[in-house]
Amino acid sequence: MSGAGRVPDVADVADLLADLSADRRELFALRLERWWPDVRDGLLAVHAPEDVAALERRLLRSAARAYAERDPELHRLDLARTLAPDWFQRPGMLGYAAYTDRLTGTADAPGTLADVRERLPLLAELGVTYLHLMPLLLPREGDSDGGYAVADYRRVRPDLGTTQDVRALAADLRSRGISLVLDVVLNHVAREHPWARAARTGSPEERARYRAYFHVFDDRGVPDAYERTLPEVFPGTAPGSFTWDDELSGWVWTTFNAFQWDLDWSCPDVLAEMVDVVLHLAGLGVEVLRLDAVAFLWKRMGTACQNQPEVHALTQVLRGVTRVACPGVLLKAEAIVAPTDLVHYLGTGRHVGRVSDLAYHNSLMVQVWSMLATGDVRLASRALQAIPPVPASTSWITYVRCHDDVGWAVSDEDAAAAGLGGYAHRSFLSDWYSGAFPGSSATGLVFQADPATGDRRISGSTAALVGLEAAVARGGRLGQEDVDLAVGRLLLAHALVMAWGGIPVLWTGDELGHPGDDGWAAEPGHEADNRWVHRPRMSAELLEQRHDPSTVPGAVFAGVRHLARTRASLPHLHAAVAAQVLDPGDPGVLAVLRRHPEGPLLVLANVTEGWRPFPAERLAAHGVAGALDALSGRVPPLGGDGQLWLSPYEVVWLVGDQP
Ligand code: GLC
Ligand code: GLC
Repeated sequence: MSGAGRVPDVADVADLLADLSADRRELFALRLERWWPDVRDGLLAVHAPEDVAALERRLLRSAARAYAERDPELHRLDLARTLAPDWFQRPGMLGYAAYTDRLTGTADAPGTLADVRERLPLLAELGVTYLHLMPLLLPREGDSDGGYAVADYRRVRPDLGTTQDVRALAADLRSRGISLVLDVVLNHVAREHPWARAARTGSPEERARYRAYFHVFDDRGVPDAYERTLPEVFPGTAPGSFTWDDELSGWVWTTFNAFQWDLDWSCPDVLAEMVDVVLHLAGLGVEVLRLDAVAFLWKRMGTACQNQPEVHALTQVLRGVTRVACPGVLLKAEAIVAPTDLVHYLGTGRHVGRVSDLAYHNSLMVQVWSMLATGDVRLASRALQAIPPVPASTSWITYVRCHDDVGWAVSDEDAAAAGLGGYAHRSFLSDWYSGAFPGSSATGLVFQADPATGDRRISGSTAALVGLEAAVARGGRLGQEDVDLAVGRLLLAHALVMAWGGIPVLWTGDELGHPGDDGWAAEPGHEADNRWVHRPRMSAELLEQRHDPSTVPGAVFAGVRHLARTRASLPHLHAAVAAQVLDPGDPGVLAVLRRHPEGPLLVLANVTEGWRPFPAERLAAHGVAGALDALSGRVPPLGGDGQLWLSPYEVVWLVGDQP
């Protein structure tokens, strides 16, 4: 490796690249020049300079090996994507997330990887270009936190299929313009993973080597000191962040469940092994890697041990290596954190353009639910305005619901600025969505109430949270007020996330208003985790109804599909164009402006059950007076008072002329 330069010498990996053409060797060298400085900077931010050289050599060999072995079709994809680096920012992108075994099949005969193809017509009707299949690598037996406790990153859950099936499915999806997205669980492995096994029961040398992969303490001293500032993720079912293990004869760090052992990312072997895992998944044809629980990777005494600066340095290393070996692959940060911490995952300061390409817009999701509960946009407007801009080369993942609970990430500052108490508002939202608040028709469940902080999160399907489940259970039909209003809320939520710019990701069944699973607690291993309520098996019957607009699933499906189709036709929704939330006038109307070279796009959303106005002068001021509403295909008429009046839960996407 050349000592002085910023780029290692490609001659160091000549043996690995020997079978490649001169052109391909040159391309590798060019990529090193472009991306390796990021890798090195990232390493230097977490490791002592004297350790960095060895680690660099190891990562370089991993990258070169992955590059040399890359399937020619994937190599071609890499080339195409480096020619169109904004491929994932385009308005035609639409995501869908599902459990493989619940997307098709029945409880008795669950779906497999091969069966995913049965849903291709559904995905095509919606225009899906990104399919996130929930964890499918070999988990531990018994409760595995929905697959987030991985026992082997190189094997697939046998009931779903094989590694070869993943490869074949990825190729099939790719040929249809759909990118396969998989999780890479970075923060922890299952207690049954070979590393954890070796730390527990290996030979003395193995035990010494693999204990260093984890955070292990002989007594409670250090754990107690950490716990003074550690928040709890599963206070109800897995209290504390450390677990005593007899075989280990020590306390091991377990942020999530006792069987999920946090990795010690300050150990160079952990980083090198995980780089290999990432490259392995990329080699299967996975195009987007969801960095699960990435916020938790680095621990620092006296802090919450989330969002530490080293997390971004480590992501930069992962990104740099993948850019060298497989630049068609994106990294997506799953950091469900406070609004001020969130933007760093897309890159701020020296990490701009060097960390994840994608991150979940948790704040937008939370604010959508908050607006729907209160019928008031003032807090959301303020909170969303306060989020700093993100690099124009990145994109949010926008979503209404996912497989997890909803945690009320509303900061005290934002709440105060909107005249609310943070705690009181968060508490109200839990009351509202669990149906405890008078007048609420939501039927969510409280998840992990924390008696110490009073914090309560919420589980429940979109249909449950918008009140559709309750209305339908009462025998409600389309045309009845409660059903229509609930459908209105569901479509409004989707109209906002689809008009934000970024990749909207639909959660399985939300396109049908699919209810949750009443029987969730009866499944072995699920009884203590009510997130399973909103992870139902997709009902073939509801799916069948999607083409019948007189049914609830048909009406919801038509609405969601229309939003997706319309979105795909609007260049304004390219993720590089920022969404600018305007100061609210009427507190019931959210206004979001996008200023695109082709002209302005103004999104107006009435988050209330009544009619609400938006003044004509403001339409004119933003260049959308007399503009077409892309959703209805007409120019909305003004009322006698010269204002644009929006019906309950109506959303318009007003497309102005070129400036
Ligand atoms: C992420 C997943 C969640 C899981 C946790 C631990 O937050 O989304 O489902 O419980 O990580 O892996
Ligand atoms: C952690 C994750 C969050 C998830 C939760 C599991 O807080 O960051 O994504 O919701 O665990 O419920």
